[in-house]
Amino acid sequence: MYIEKLIFQNYRNYSHLKINLHPKMNIFVGKNAQGKTNILESVYLLSTGKSHRSSKDQEMIKWDKENAFIKGEIITENKKKVIEIGLSKNQKKKIKMNGVPLKKRGDLLGQVHSVLFCPEDLKLVKGSPNERRNFLDQEISNLRPRYYYYLLEYNKILKQRNFLLKRIKYKNSFKDTLYVWDQQLVEIGSKIILTRIHFLKKINEFAKNLHTEITNNLEQIELFYQSTVLSNKEDIKNIKDVFQEKLKKNQIMDIQRGTTTIGPHRDDIKINVNQIDIRSFGSQGQQRTAALSLKLSIFELIHLEIGEYPILLLDDVMSELDQNRQNKLMDSLKNIQSLITCTDLNFLKENYPIENQVYQVKNGQLSMFS
Ligand SMILES: Nc1ncnc2c1ncn2[C@@H]1O[C@H](COP(=O)(O)OP(=O)(O)OP(=O)(O)O)[C@@H](O)[C@H]1O
Ligand SMILES: [Mg+2]
Repeated sequence: MYIEKLIFQNYRNYSHLKINLHPKMNIFVGKNAQGKTNILESVYLLSTGKSHRSSKDQEMIKWDKENAFIKGEIITENKKKVIEIGLSKNQKKKIKMNGVPLKKRGDLLGQVHSVLFCPEDLKLVKGSPNERRNFLDQEISNLRPRYYYYLLEYNKILKQRNFLLKRIKYKNSFKDTLYVWDQQLVEIGSKIILTRIHFLKKINEFAKNLHTEITNNLEQIELFYQSTVLSNKEDIKNIKDVFQEKLKKNQIMDIQRGTTTIGPHRDDIKINVNQIDIRSFGSQGQQRTAALSLKLSIFELIHLEIGEYPILLLDDVMSELDQNRQNKLMDSLKNIQSLITCTDLNFLKENYPIENQVYQVKNGQLSMFS
């Protein structure tokens, strides 16, 4: 799939922008703080309904304005999808697809696929478990939109359970109703765990091959789902039984702490390279390469599942790769659409066609690079 047209009004540092994108490579070159990442962010927004870097939609509205508008025309399976997003300082975000308003952000998921590579990807390996869970949840939601609603439901139940736990601490009789929340938490939480396990297994298969290729056979990667609801048998009944049992066992601790100490909201992904846990013990280079393998695996998995390659967004990553890896990456971009940001064009070899594909970005304005 590819994005054909991109239109902004009062989005980030852009007042107005209208560009036709090339179905293959598009390069955005410019100095720092000119609006390169903002462009990639908008494509991420059109495919997921939210920004990859700010949790508040309002931050994307141009500072002196009340509303922002972002529109993308995407070609997928030879059909056009028009996605429009309206942001407002004091109203909820509005999303339309082909002119029809969508009721929820979840309805947008799975419509347009993109994969973003950015310097912050390192956090996927090095950062807190939260980073890895969010990554997994986001990617699963895009491919299995029903999962997104599981998550919403789970978080709602979790909040209510935690609220009750805090009240029990002061009034023990509230304890009688705890089992109601436990049951619901187990029901939906187990589905989340099982979906994550299956999904991670698929990513793992791709990651293994990609990682040995990237590292010229020097390193082997292995991903594991590390659950607080330890269950050796990966079927739903077993996970539910163990989850229920553990909740009971941890009840006193949960009441003391006023929070639920086990469940998918506390789980993690373990990343081993040559049998070493590189979340804590990997070198910076190993961590970066592992993050790259993870993202590339998502890219391949989307292709496998939907039969089309997602739009590839590369934010400032060229400069971080050595010549060998740059060439490898450039070669693999020949048949897909990519939007690449950079501060210089050194990575372009002479034989790459760059006519009508390179934009100069300067203070929220684009011009053809010449
Ligand atoms: N809501 C907003 N309204 C107006 N300007 C904004 C808004 N949000 C961010 N900016 C501006 O956008 C610019 C940053 O854009 P962006 O992150 O795309 O830069 P960049 O070209 O990718 O730079 P770098 O090379 O440093 O990554 C900054 O000048 C910032 O002040
Ligand atoms: Mg940037």
